[in-house]
Amino acid sequence: MVKGIYIHIPFCLNKCNYCDFLSFKCRESDKKKYVEYLKKEIMLYPQYEYESVYFGGGTPSILDSEDLKEILSLLKIKDKGEVTIEVNPKTVDYDKFKAYKKIGINRVSIGIQSFDEKKLKVLGRMHNSSEGKKAYLEAREAGFKNISLDLMFSLPDQTLEELREDLKELFDLKPEHFSIYSLIWEEGTNFFEKLKRGELKETDNDLEADMYKTIIEEGKKAGYIHYEISNFALPGREAVHNSSYWKNEEYLGIGLGASGYCDGIRYKNQVKFKDYYDNIDNGEKPILESEIVDEEAKEVYKYILGLRLLQLGVIPKGKYIKLCEKLRNLELLEKKDNRYLLTEKGLFIANDVFDEFV
Ligand SMILES: C[S@@+](CC[C@H](N)C(=O)[O-])C[C@H]1O[C@@H](n2cnc3c(N)ncnc32)[C@H](O)[C@@H]1O
Ligand code: SF4
Repeated sequence: MVKGIYIHIPFCLNKCNYCDFLSFKCRESDKKKYVEYLKKEIMLYPQYEYESVYFGGGTPSILDSEDLKEILSLLKIKDKGEVTIEVNPKTVDYDKFKAYKKIGINRVSIGIQSFDEKKLKVLGRMHNSSEGKKAYLEAREAGFKNISLDLMFSLPDQTLEELREDLKELFDLKPEHFSIYSLIWEEGTNFFEKLKRGELKETDNDLEADMYKTIIEEGKKAGYIHYEISNFALPGREAVHNSSYWKNEEYLGIGLGASGYCDGIRYKNQVKFKDYYDNIDNGEKPILESEIVDEEAKEVYKYILGLRLLQLGVIPKGKYIKLCEKLRNLELLEKKDNRYLLTEKGLFIANDVFDEFV
């Protein structure tokens, strides 16, 4: 049963130095055309009733609110459903946030990345530290009561002290939710090239582990529940949409390169505009590749996604009971009632733990 819908907006003002998300600089006419096709794609699916809607990118806040309104008008959203938009501080202001509220968006996720001026420059962000904070304060002023901030750590040359400064600024703002990802050096990015040329270097593993530990400790002290590997929330403010991914629930993925999971099939949409538009012109879903998720595969997804939810974990079945017990003996999982959860030790090597289930 489809619960949520993810809508991908593949446009950005500029490409950040570390980012390999599917996004491009664009003209006004590109946006208009794309929105028309998004609406057509939505109409290719049955009318579901959504518990969550997520505009992700790229930079969804690059679109006019009128366009977002037209897209939302096509969707049936449950009463009190979560409607999130990812925003880049450089593309928003008080009026835009007001408009978002008016069209039914009730959660914003702001791409802050860091509050450190120098780090923002290195990352190639268009916004500076005060613009990041300003975006947050304007969202509040416009009436948003559910705000998430996106940060990164393990940045080039970042010290533990600098991370602590970022955390302090973050907790001073008191968002309901925050995500914090360790920098991934993605092939094809400016950062990756600089790494190869020796102009930047990766963070030492021990320092990265210390940083992650600090985030967990300080997050806890500030009142946040560490509910997923990279996600923290005040009680009751866990992200509904993203949590549904980890609960292995079905959702539609709409837009260029979007992934979805619908009627037992996981799929990924076309990644080239021409193919995406051609498919839709032919009345076809613009799917590039898909995988039928049989019962066995569904079980595997259950563990590798479910263990990410640190308080919920998984209830194993069949042969996985033995595997969970083995991982418990290694102190990588712990058992609470009939659920298995990642331990702190497991958390630091989570990907190795997940590999055991594949
Ligand atoms: C689509 S972006 C968020 C919204 C908006 N595009 C922005 O950047 O302001 C999703 C988030 O993924 C994270 N991210 C992107 N590239 C990353 C990388 N190479 N390593 C770690 N995190 C990354 C960033 O925290 C980013 O805010
Ligand atoms: S981090 Fe966000 S703003 Fe920067 S290029 Fe990636 S999607 Fe665009």
